[in-house]
Amino acid sequence: MTYINEALWLPKRGGDLAVGSSTYTAPKQGEVVVRTRAVAVNFIDAMPGFAYRFVLPWLSFPAVIGSDVAGEVVEVGAGVTRLQVGDRVVAHAAGTEKSRNTSAEGAFQDYVVLMAHMVAPLPDSLPFKQAAVLPLAMSTASCGLFQKDQLALALPTANPADRNETVLVWGGSTSVGVNAIQLARNAGYRVVATSSPKHFDWLRSLGASVVIDRTSSDVVDELVAAIGHQPLAGVLAIGSGSLPPTIEIAARLPGSKRVSTTNPSPITSVRARLARRRGVTVSTIWGGTLKDNEVGPAIYCDFLPAALASGAYRAEPVATVVGDGLASIPAALDRLREGISATKLVVRL
Ligand SMILES: NC(=O)c1ccc[n+]([C@@H]2O[C@H](COP(=O)([O-])OP(=O)(O)OC[C@H]3O[C@@H](n4cnc5c(N)ncnc54)[C@H](OP(=O)(O)O)[C@@H]3O)[C@@H](O)[C@H]2O)c1
Repeated sequence: MTYINEALWLPKRGGDLAVGSSTYTAPKQGEVVVRTRAVAVNFIDAMPGFAYRFVLPWLSFPAVIGSDVAGEVVEVGAGVTRLQVGDRVVAHAAGTEKSRNTSAEGAFQDYVVLMAHMVAPLPDSLPFKQAAVLPLAMSTASCGLFQKDQLALALPTANPADRNETVLVWGGSTSVGVNAIQLARNAGYRVVATSSPKHFDWLRSLGASVVIDRTSSDVVDELVAAIGHQPLAGVLAIGSGSLPPTIEIAARLPGSKRVSTTNPSPITSVRARLARRRGVTVSTIWGGTLKDNEVGPAIYCDFLPAALASGAYRAEPVATVVGDGLASIPAALDRLREGISATKLVVRL
């Protein structure tokens, strides 16, 4: 089987993205090919050329970047039984990951090769454009919450028992945060979050018990008081500046002393060393690591399909469609660089 493929190529570090033809790559063992119908854009797709040296130093060029895909399965590789041709799916594309490093697996193309265990079937009621908001944000939250080297929480299930422990999600209104809130709730934890006040109701509707203004001058004391009556299960620190207050909170409260951050900075290792003296362990998240451990299949195969179908999990935040066709993606990246709030930018293909 073969199809005519087009991709948005990044010719070199710091080069200009351009649409061009690409070969169709058939799926190998454990893979599927999806006809992409919607992609979302993330900060890593919008980073400046020089940052590739530090963030994706292994990446081969020309490259096809992009992580968030929704579309239809068109070909299934050997050994894949849970997905069929024609299935509507959402998936985390792994082409820029060090262990994959292949343009065939980048999201920004018409036909993308995907690891089958990072693909989840969609209910008919969920449009591709809205499903596309999920993958990298949900994967990043899942790595932080569930991996053994991060917060090591219990995995989400259909009918979770109440655990009487609290997860703190700092940066609850980010795309990563709204996934973290829902994942932690579906694993039976109470969730306390931070955001700006305009997002409080939204985060409560997703399962947060208490939401505190992250810019409040008393934010640490307010969070300690809100969490106080239950032990901490762990802290997810999302967004710049999230590490100092969350380390302080973990040091002061009973329970887990683990803080998992999405935003390593040049001084993260210094902060982590100082935190260790107070009994707090800081770890940094790379949102693609779940593809190589039990968390990836637990989320994409075991949890998400049924949770989306039952309504126990919502594809949030709301998608803003900013264009159609691969050629619209560079403008979507420009818009992302200007900053977004409570939305994810999506391009339909
Ligand atoms: N390590 C990884 O693998 C990985 C993967 C994906 C993303 N990330 C990082 O995770 C962060 C979130 O990404 P995203 O795509 O989920 O974000 P996003 O959806 O673009 O988040 C937008 C929201 O962030 C909130 N915000 C702004 N500044 C903040 C700050 N300093 N602290 C906390 N919240 C802040 C704002 O809401 P309020 O006004 O309500 O606070 C805004 O609505 C980014 O820094 C991103 O680089 C890391």
